[in-house]
Amino acid sequence: MDRIVITGGSPLRGEVRISGAKNAALPILASTLLSGEECVITNVPAVVDVRTMATLLGMLGASVSAEGSRVAVSVQALASTEAPYALVKTMRASVLVLGPLVARWGEATVSLPGGCAIGTRPVNLHLSGLAKLGAEVTIEHGYIRARARRLRGTTIYLDFPTVTGTENLMMAACLAEGTTVIENAAKEPEITDLASFLVKRGARISGAGTDLITVEGVRELRGADHEVIPDRIEAGTYLAAGAITGGDVEITRCQPRHLEAVVMKLRESGAQVVEAKESIRLKAPRRLKGVDVKTFAYPGFPTDMQAQIMALMCMAEGPSVITETVFESRLIHVLELQRMGADIKVEGNHAVVSGTGTLTGAPVMASDLRASAGLILAGMAAEGETEISRVYHLDRGYERIEEKLGNLGAVIRRVKGEGGGAAAA
Ligand code: EPZ
Repeated sequence: MDRIVITGGSPLRGEVRISGAKNAALPILASTLLSGEECVITNVPAVVDVRTMATLLGMLGASVSAEGSRVAVSVQALASTEAPYALVKTMRASVLVLGPLVARWGEATVSLPGGCAIGTRPVNLHLSGLAKLGAEVTIEHGYIRARARRLRGTTIYLDFPTVTGTENLMMAACLAEGTTVIENAAKEPEITDLASFLVKRGARISGAGTDLITVEGVRELRGADHEVIPDRIEAGTYLAAGAITGGDVEITRCQPRHLEAVVMKLRESGAQVVEAKESIRLKAPRRLKGVDVKTFAYPGFPTDMQAQIMALMCMAEGPSVITETVFESRLIHVLELQRMGADIKVEGNHAVVSGTGTLTGAPVMASDLRASAGLILAGMAAEGETEISRVYHLDRGYERIEEKLGNLGAVIRRVKGEGGGAAAA
């Protein structure tokens, strides 16, 4: 397994271009199952999760051709309606094929994703929503089996604004008979991006980006071309990298309005942040101030930026309380930051960080995609060398991260290891 080795202390300076959003590309690729005509998706990030989704689509019978950030998909006929455990356990977002398969092909057999480092992450809301749409849903031998001749529109209330749950049900509703209303829907920009792609293909969707989404079912969808939105979490990660190293970084090809909560917290901690139409420039203060952060569903502070801001707060002056409200066990990176000298106390879902302003390099282990990013940030600010193992987590969601950080002046290198790694998150 590869490792990443970082020598801390170099302020990051320069410009970095943000890639397409992994969490928009995944549902958009899964939604190609809803039509037979070719779809051409551009600005797709070259990350492992996208490759896994492409593999799954191929296994189902889609023809997928990828050239750089352009992926063409067409699904004339299916070879299978099964998403096997061996693949799903490496990427939970595989569950996104469930809605499209049932809606267009009348059946799906998708492995339950199983546990994950950041929480139990059930998919009960996906399943109860599909059942409300008229699908017959059972769990057999660790697999979700869903069947429906034709889904029927209805009103679905989501107990929690689940992101992939909203996406699965919105996709399924596109081909249902009649109108579906999804109440307490997730409002993430990735959902709006998926909806705009589906509407281009003839779907009738209104309210995406709000907590009330209405879908009028149609008989079929066409193909279409679509450019994926920039990745707001990658963008936030690079802003945090500039802030933690006392640097001056400009991130380009991003959507500043998707990062409001993150930018607000960075400004509160003393960073100077200037936004333009498609770029953001951050100049770090000599020393950051500790600020309190609570994660929420969008437009709140994103849980996917929690590990990164925690690393930042370790270097800040003064205490900060970081509260994780979305996942029940997304504070494992605390243990690794403590190995680097961080003074953090965990009480329930709160982490009380006493900003000591120093971290020391150490061998640490990544536990999930975003924890890995937090450890990279800590390593760039720490005295000495940090070696991060299990970086396969990182490769699932960050395109060429050591190259992009190296171009900004980070002293970072990848040490090739033997064997790969596979874990869901
Ligand atoms: C999406 O995961 C993202 N993944 C996650 O990003 C992100 O952390 C998460 O949304 C929250 O923003 C993709 O979009 C592919 P949820 P998802 O369903 O949809 C509970 C990354 O790093 N819940 O919104 O799986 C669940 O337990 C990844 O890119 C149920 O109880 O998250 C959790 O506590 C990590 N029942 C909360 O809702 C359900 O049926 C949020 O989960 C579904 C969810």
